[in-house]
Amino acid sequence: MSKSTGCCQDFLHYVFDYETPKTLVIPSIRVGFVFRFTQFLVVLYVVGYVCVVQKAYQETDSVSSSVTTKVKGFAYTNISDMEPRFWDVADYIIPPQGDNSFFVLTNIIMTPGQTQSRCAELPNPSTICADDCDCIEGYNDPRGNGIRTGLCENYSSTVKTCEVLSWCPLEIDTNLPKRALLAAAENFTVLIKNSVTYPKFNFHMRNILPHINSSYLKTCEFSRETDPDCPIFRLRHILAEAGEDFQDMAVKGGVFGIIIDWSCDLDWWAGKCYPKYTFRRLDNKNPVNNVAPGYNFRYAKYYKSPNGEETRTLIKAYGIRFDVIVFGTAGKFGIVPTIVNLGAALSFLSLVPIVADWFMLTCMKKRHLYSKQKVTYLVEEPETESTSIGTMYGTQ
Ligand SMILES: *[C@@H]1O[C@H](CO)[C@@H](O)[C@H](O)[C@H]1NC(C)=O
Repeated sequence: MSKSTGCCQDFLHYVFDYETPKTLVIPSIRVGFVFRFTQFLVVLYVVGYVCVVQKAYQETDSVSSSVTTKVKGFAYTNISDMEPRFWDVADYIIPPQGDNSFFVLTNIIMTPGQTQSRCAELPNPSTICADDCDCIEGYNDPRGNGIRTGLCENYSSTVKTCEVLSWCPLEIDTNLPKRALLAAAENFTVLIKNSVTYPKFNFHMRNILPHINSSYLKTCEFSRETDPDCPIFRLRHILAEAGEDFQDMAVKGGVFGIIIDWSCDLDWWAGKCYPKYTFRRLDNKNPVNNVAPGYNFRYAKYYKSPNGEETRTLIKAYGIRFDVIVFGTAGKFGIVPTIVNLGAALSFLSLVPIVADWFMLTCMKKRHLYSKQKVTYLVEEPETESTSIGTMYGTQ
């Protein structure tokens, strides 16, 4: 071998040396234990986690669902600033039907007899005026109540404010009843009808389970302990389960979630597929720094007064919006995911010898002997009758 071609020689060795595994038996309990233990961990992972916990042998599909709701209950209110009044579902459910959610009116600020006319603004620093010069005609403040006419009028005997063109009399929304007007709403019930399908598996199911008949449905009420299959929920009860007090939440309103979990294992050996209900308040009720709490909106009812003038009753409605949230994934045995996931999991077995080798070459007393024996560079020497074994690279 010529030294001048050493570089070329190295390259040729690098490319064309054929490496073939040779079996080296290490008769050591400790190395053997590390090897078997690592193997055991891999098998445990494949069987315990991949198969049992993750169910990686299954194909999955996510749920498609439809929800309809029907609230029932009556209330009677008799408070000082409103006529005694009977309420049924057409009065307190707004709008009459919604998708995946329903709103139950619980508290109200009613401003009857509004007509299109002119009146003095509600007093606050930007509306109080001394004379007409303070009020710009046509000025339109989105936070105000109307378009200014340019006049400064008496709001009360002591305060003057700018006059606006608006629906008058103006709503005064500071005197919200401290106790919810429709306190009786806590005893209303809602029937939730939820159909789900897993299209991939051609699976259809309702939350009105097959064993429920109509006479049972007329009397049952959901209770996690005694009647977990009944799809009729008492509002107070489901709020209480989420740790909320109905009367507290009813004063300023809020958003509440009825969550239906349809996660199912559809393999024949698994159990039946039933919905699981959980309840949670969705809006923020953090008592610290809770600016603008609750949920409210305004709507109006229009009519013609006897003298033909268009008149409306403005209602600022506070209440609880119930959102029905349906989720779930179903799994069923499939041959393709089984092969793919099993192959991926078992490929970890090829890491086992690496761990055992590392242990053998770094932690054992005889590691120098082992590392000398681990890689053998075979050199054929035609001059001698036997072959000799060297560990240096092509220098023999
Ligand atoms: C709701 O019903 C319960 C039991 O029937 C009753 O004690 C309670 O007073 C009712 N709530 C309201 C606000 O009427």
